[in-house]
This record gives sequence, C-alpha cells and structure tokens, in this order.
Amino acid sequence: MPALAILARSMAPCKRVPMFLILFILSITRVATTNAIASKVDRFVPQDNYLLSCGASAAVQVDDGRTFRSDPESVSFLSTLTDIKIAAKASLASASPLSPLYLDARVFSDISTYSFFISQPGRHWIRLYFLPITDSQYNLTTATFSVSTDSMVLLHDFSFIASPPNPVFREYLVSAQGDNLKIIFTPKKNSIAFINAIEVVSAPPSLIPNTTTRMGPQDQFDISNNALQVVYRLNMGGALVTSFNDTLGRTWQPDAPFLKLEAAAEAAWVPPRTIKYPDDKTLTPLIAPASIYSTAQQMASTNITNARFNITWQMVAEPGFRYLIRLHFSDIVSKTLNSLYFNVYINGMMAVANLDLSSLTMGLAVAYYKDLIAESSSIINSTLLVQVGPNTIDSGDPNAILNGLEIMKISNEASSLDGLFSPKTSSEVSKTTLTGIAFALAATAALAVVICYRRNRKPEWQRTNSFHSWFLPLNSSSSFMSSCSRLSRNRFGSTRTKSGFSSVFASSAYGLGRYFTFVEIQKATKNFEEKGVIGVGGFGKVYLGATEDGTQLAIKRGNPSSDQGMNEFLTEIQMLSKLRHRHLVSLIGCCDENNEMILVYEFMSNGPLRDHLYGDTNIKPISWKQRLEVCIGAAKGLHYLHTGSAQGIIHRDVKTTNILLDENFVAKVADFGLSKDAPSLEQTHVSTAVKGSFGYLDPEYFRRQQLTDKSDVYSFGVVLFEVLCARPAINPALPRDQVNLAEWARTWHRKGELGKIIDPNIAGQIRSDSLEMFAEAAEKCLADYGVDRPTMGDVLWKLEFALQLQEKGDVVDGTSDGIAMKSLEVTNVDSMEKSGNAIPSYVQGR
Ligand SMILES: *[C@@H]1O[C@H](CO)[C@@H](O)[C@H](O)[C@H]1NC(C)=O
Ligand SMILES: *[C@@H]1O[C@H](CO)[C@@H](O)[C@H](O)[C@H]1NC(C)=O
Ligand SMILES: *[C@@H]1O[C@H](CO)[C@@H](O)[C@H](O)[C@H]1NC(C)=O
Ligand SMILES: *[C@@H]1O[C@H](CO)[C@@H](O)[C@H](O)[C@H]1NC(C)=O
Ligand SMILES: *[C@@H]1O[C@H](CO)[C@@H](O)[C@H](O)[C@H]1NC(C)=O
Ligand SMILES: *[C@@H]1O[C@H](CO)[C@@H](O)[C@H](O)[C@H]1NC(C)=O
Ligand SMILES: *[C@@H]1O[C@H](CO)[C@@H](O)[C@H](O)[C@H]1NC(C)=O
Repeated sequence: MPALAILARSMAPCKRVPMFLILFILSITRVATTNAIASKVDRFVPQDNYLLSCGASAAVQVDDGRTFRSDPESVSFLSTLTDIKIAAKASLASASPLSPLYLDARVFSDISTYSFFISQPGRHWIRLYFLPITDSQYNLTTATFSVSTDSMVLLHDFSFIASPPNPVFREYLVSAQGDNLKIIFTPKKNSIAFINAIEVVSAPPSLIPNTTTRMGPQDQFDISNNALQVVYRLNMGGALVTSFNDTLGRTWQPDAPFLKLEAAAEAAWVPPRTIKYPDDKTLTPLIAPASIYSTAQQMASTNITNARFNITWQMVAEPGFRYLIRLHFSDIVSKTLNSLYFNVYINGMMAVANLDLSSLTMGLAVAYYKDLIAESSSIINSTLLVQVGPNTIDSGDPNAILNGLEIMKISNEASSLDGLFSPKTSSEVSKTTLTGIAFALAATAALAVVICYRRNRKPEWQRTNSFHSWFLPLNSSSSFMSSCSRLSRNRFGSTRTKSGFSSVFASSAYGLGRYFTFVEIQKATKNFEEKGVIGVGGFGKVYLGATEDGTQLAIKRGNPSSDQGMNEFLTEIQMLSKLRHRHLVSLIGCCDENNEMILVYEFMSNGPLRDHLYGDTNIKPISWKQRLEVCIGAAKGLHYLHTGSAQGIIHRDVKTTNILLDENFVAKVADFGLSKDAPSLEQTHVSTAVKGSFGYLDPEYFRRQQLTDKSDVYSFGVVLFEVLCARPAINPALPRDQVNLAEWARTWHRKGELGKIIDPNIAGQIRSDSLEMFAEAAEKCLADYGVDRPTMGDVLWKLEFALQLQEKGDVVDGTSDGIAMKSLEVTNVDSMEKSGNAIPSYVQGR
C-alpha cells in the first residue's frame, strides 16, 4: 500500500480518479482463504448459555433438543416488583404448531431486570421471544414497553397494537464487558411489559470482527462497541436451516420470498460434505454451516435472450441505521477453476467488483465470506438491495452466485437499535434525552447529508429559545409546524410520554423553519415558471420566487424521481435549519404537501462568487478589497461550521460556485446539505466515497479516505488562489503544468513570482504586503498533510490581516476601493502583530 500511496501523491490531482478506483478494488477484495481440506464440523460449546422459558411452570424442551428452564428455577436472575406469570389458553396451546416457548409469559407492571452472570466477556446473543397471549386477567396485545441492556436500547415502545398477534422473535449480538449482563423491561406509563422466552448465549469471538470495511468511504469502521440486530439470515437456493442443523442455534430462512424476480434465479445444490473450509481456520463452520455453502442461487439459464442480468434480493431496512452485510459464497456451479467472475452490488452500488472466487479460495466448493458495511445514506425507500450479476468485461459464460446472506442492523450513536433514545432515559423526557435525540439526529443527518458530524463535540441544544428567531415571523403557530414536522416526528420520534414534549420537540430541536403551503409556493414561483429557474442540480430545479410583500426567495423543488427520499429530505432540512450564521445561506422553510420536497432559502441576488471573478463578460470583476471581504466572509461561515455552535460539520464541497453574494456583496456559503447529486452509473463510487469537486479535492482525503475539517481548508486554499488569479481550479485546455491551479500557483509563489499570475483586473490595486499575507494563507491551506494546514480560524486571521494591510495602505495613499493604486512600496508592518516576514514586492512586475 505505501507504493500506491506514493504513486497517488506523485500523480496530478486531475488524474486521480482511476487511482481511486484501483484502491477501491484492492481494498474490497481482501484475500482471506487458502485451499483446504474439509474440516470436521466444529461443535460449539458456549461459555454462557442461559435459556429461559419465562413464566413457565416447568422446563420446556424445544425441537432442536435444547432445554429452556423456567424462570422460577433461576429466580435470582430476575428483579421485579410483582410476580405475574400467565399461560396461553389451552385452545392456543393445542391448536397451533407454535414453539412451546411462546405459550407462557411473564408480565411486568414496573421496571424489571433480568441479570445474567457473564463468565466470558465478549459478544453474546440475546434472543427474545414475544407472543401477546391472553388469559382471564391480562391481554398482552395492549402492552407497550421498551427493552434495553445496561448500555443498549433493543426495543423502544414496542407493542402489538398495530400488528397482528403473531410470534415475534428478535435476535441481537451485544458486547458484554463486565461480569454481568442486564436485560431491562420498562413498561410505558400505564401499560405493562412481557416476555415469553430469553436466550443469552456466548458467541464465538471470531464470529464478528472488531472492524469492517465501509462501502463508500472505504475505511475500517470499528463495530466492537456496537450492538447488532440480526434482521435477515438467508440460505440462498436452499431450505430452512434450523437451530437443529446449526451448532450456533441460528435459523436460516429460504431466500425465495426476497427475490425480486424469481425467474431470474435458479437454485444450485451439491451434497454438504463436498464443501471445504480453509485449513488456516479463518473460516470454520461456525461462520456458516456446510448446509448454507452447499446451496446457491445462480443466474437462470432458461431464457438466453439477454445473457446479462442481475439476480436481485430486496429486503426492508430502516433509514438512519448502518447495516453489516455478510455475503457467503462457495463456487458450487463451475466445472473448472477461474471460470466464474461476477459483481456484487449493494443498494445499487458496486460492493465487490469482479469477484474471482477461484483465486481467493484456490478451489471449487470452498467456503468464503465477505463483510461490508452499508451506510445509512445508501438506503433509499427503506429498501436494502443485494444484487449479483455477471462482469461486463469477461466474455466467458456469464454467471453469478450467492450462497448465503446475513443482514445485521448496527446500533446508532444514541446506542440504540430502535429509535433515537439512549438507554436509561428511554422512558423519561429530560434535557439529556433531548440532547441524545438531537445528537443522534445530527449524526443520522450527517450520514444522509454527506456532512460529517464529529461525535466528540456536542452541539449546544440547550439554547433552544434562539431557534425561533431564526425563522420568518409567523401568523399562527399551528401553521408553523404542520406536515413537515408531522412527518419528521413519525420518522424520528417515538411516542412521547409527557405532555409538552411534543411542542418542544416540534418547534425547537426539530424546527424546520416556516411551513409553506404548496399554494403559497405556486404563487411565489408563478406556478414554477421556467423563466424563473435560476439553477439546476442533482436535487432538482431552483426557482426565483417572491412573496406578496416582494421578499425574494430561492425555492428548490426536489425532483420527485430523484433518489433522495422523503426521509433523507427531512433529515437534511433538520440539519440545515439548525445552522444559522451571517455567512451561511439561510434556510427559511419547507413544503412537503402533495409529496413535494421543497426548500425555501434566502435569495442571493448577486449569485456565485465565480461569476464576479471570470467567465461572465457581462459582470465587472470585483475589486481586490471586495475579494478580500468576500474571502473573509466565506472563511467566517466555514469557521462557524467547523467550530461554532453547529460544530464539527465539514462542508466537503467548498468552491467558488458554492460561495454566494447577496445584494451587498456579503458572502454566504451555500449547499452544505443538498449538494449531493443523484449518483449516476459510472459515478457511484466517486460521488459516494470521495465527494467534492476536482481541483478542490484534498489529496490527503483522497489517499486516506479520511475526511477532516482540514479538507475544507485545502479546498478553501484553492478558492483563495482562484480569487487571486481569476481562473478555474482545473482548466484542461491549458498546458500540462498549468492545468491544476493549486500546483501552478504554488510553483509561482515558491519562485517568488506570484505577481506574474495575478488577475490583471486587480493586479494594480494590490499592496504587496497584503498580497503576501494572502498568498501565505493560501499556500498554507494547500499543505500536503492536514496537520500542516492552518485551521479556518488561522486562515481568517491572516485574511483579516491582509485586509488591514490593504486598508492601511489605502488610507496612507488616499486611494479608495476600485481605484488603482500607484504606490506599491513595501510598508512598515512592525506595528502589526505577528508579522515577522520580509515582504517582497511581487506586484511591481505588472
Ligand atoms: C385483546 O385486546 C385487543 C386490542 O384491544 C383486542 O382486539 C382483542 O380482541 C383482545 N383479546 C382478547 C382475547 O380479549
Ligand atoms: C477485538 O478487540 C478485543 C479487545 O479490544 C480483542 O481482545 C479481540 O481479540 C478482538 N477481536 C478480534 C476478532 O479481532
Ligand atoms: C439437518 O440435520 C439432519 C440430521 O443430521 C439432516 O437429516 C437434515 O438433512 C439436515 N438439514 C439440512 C437442511 O441440512
Ligand atoms: C422466460 O420466458 C418466459 C416466457 O416468455 C417468461 O414468462 C419468463 O419471465 C422469462 N424468464 C426470465 C428470467 O426472463
Ligand atoms: C446490475 O445492478 C447494478 C446496480 O443496480 C447496475 O448498475 C447494473 O447495470 C445491473 N446489471 C445489469 C446487467 O442489469
Ligand atoms: C419508493 O417506493 C414507492 C412506493 O413503494 C414507489 O412508488 C417508488 O417508485 C419508490 N421509489 C424509488 C426511488 O424506488
Ligand atoms: C398570514 O398573514 C397574512 C397577512 O397578515 C394573511 O393574509 C395570511 O392569510 C396569514 N396566513 C396564515 C396561514 O394565517
């Protein structure tokens, strides 16, 4: 990898796309396994193995031979105020093929805790069984409750009220750190909680790795402290595999119900004993039994009219959560080695390109698996898509397979697998809860919005009162938060327990600005008149609109066919509406009537900064002093994103077209939320992994895929040189050494001849000391390594100093804005703080 890194560094930035793709492919096809002889089926003996049939009067034996003890036998586990046990009516017990585990339940009317002694810390399965049985006194259909461990929320306000009373089985993998694992049942106010059966069982340490590769950013994501919920576990092309056939007590469902087009897939089967496991023990039957690897779905061969298509499995995923996806493969379809190459896509994005099982396993019918993390931002329409399809390059007999699939939900930043409430506060509304929600919300938003939110810095949500003042005055508070907030509550919040929370929730922490009706928007835009279009982006069109009093607005109308779902849209506005700063373009409100996704922003009448530098011959380029002021404004906006009350937001797409000017030429940073373009086919990796615009992209971010606020600083350095030289960041039409502005300007600056490449429109206005201060700021921003770059605060200081130097000179020389200065001598800057540099007079040449 170092060789690649060096190679990447030595390449011109504009040539970096292919490099990135190479890294992408290398990093996902981690070679893991070697050839091996079939190993014996390892029988797993868990260190901790608690099987409880709750509320039962005697031990219960289940089909796979395991015995669940009744909980009175093990009563020391349970701390509860009331000892309520109920049994299902005899009719249910006799009539159904139900597991006997569901026929008894324990009921809790107050917080109750099961404590399990943990002999071996590490991942444990928690499996919970629920069925709302009834007896003469209790009807469990009415129960609403939360279930958590000491550190994780497993279920929040769970109930059967809205769903049919069918058995519910939930399976989790949590890390038990100390010598005790608690499972806490918390009934909702005036309700009850119940449980039919519980398993707490040690998982093999090798089962779940500590870190896994993320799709998109391609970095290693540490999941060692996250809890997982197994949502799907499928045996492709095979039958149901129950805990009887899996030494880890897992159940694998047939995949057919999830196939989007059943006719596209054809089941393949070999006897399970032919499956080989690698002899280096990187993969044992604990990962998945041979009965999983011995069946697969392959591409159906019946209709050969179109030999290239994907097999698609479609599952439901909850937006706002990351998912760990484990793909199991074993080439049971090829006759010879090296004849099967195929691609795997997750959520429409390339997950594994050109998977070559033969060279990974050095054999046929050898087990292999691949873990990936799908980011929450890739989940569209609550759908998780897994696809396999033939590689387009290979000309052989096209085929693609999948043998098994596990999908696990990863706990979120609120330490929850269900909603945004952190453990312990889940039943209580307090300031901490709000912080927790807001915190998790911001994190969720960050994922969806492609803004990075750093966990170690908490926003100051306490200042809720000021939220109101952010938005336009309103006629009535009821119209304020109508359907936008209704949707967002459905999306993020679960039911609240204290009256009054709802209004706090809606109007402050979750404030979405003013609510516009669709009719108001139609009026403001003259029914979306084409003439009024002032911009088009991945999100949709931007219209210039006006309210009745003449206030101009920029109205972004989401393209209904855009990939950006309503949830993402709402998440984004929630994020954006919390950001308020003189140098950020303000979101005024939104409209979601008729399934429209419309955002209303303040209108910036002077448009993008770039137009005032070059490219538009109708616009007179702005003066040096104006340019300094604009750069200072933009720097303040970015500084606020990085460090202000919004804290820890990385813009990711700083460029001169994202700095807008209002009627007074006050600069405001725009597009810090909705700049995400709908991914196009060839672009998927680039736009999701390394977001940004070429020419502005931080090379270190590029190499390491690690985004920091210093990436914005780099892009801002490019902006500064663009402002100085009035040329695009990348201009492919120029000779090779000039294509990339950052490199070209730095070369000239180092030669001490920066004066030769300054925009001729302003060259005569610039004082040499002001120029040097400005150039020094720009050059420092472009340092190769983020640690060597200044913070936005430092840059801001230098720019303000550059402006002071310029103004001081202007006063001395009696010149004013826009009038070319004649005097370019070096002035004495001793009186100014921090200026130890000798300041050469670069400008004299012009
Ligand atoms: C239990 O309550 C639910 C919802 O209130 C009701 O539909 C159901 O009929 C009740 N069952 C029994 C057995 O009373
Ligand atoms: C995960 O990390 C823990 C400690 O941090 C370590 O003991 C364990 O071996 C690691 N597990 C794996 C699979 O790397
Ligand atoms: C499960 O194991 C039993 C007993 O070994 C065997 O008869 C059955 O075929 C197995 N089922 C599957 C799906 O492998
Ligand atoms: C194969 O052809 C039949 C009949 O034309 C059609 O119903 C079926 O959907 C086709 N299968 C695939 C995988 O295209
Ligand atoms: C398979 O699916 C991927 C992702 O959705 C898509 O890009 C690709 O074009 C599909 N391939 C075929 C042959 O349809
Ligand atoms: C989202 O789901 C709805 C309803 O199922 C469907 O009409 C719509 O086409 C889907 N959108 C996308 C982008 O898949
Ligand atoms: C807001 O006030 C204006 C004028 O004061 C009025 O015409 C309009 O109907 C009001 N809107 C709402 C939603 O009350």
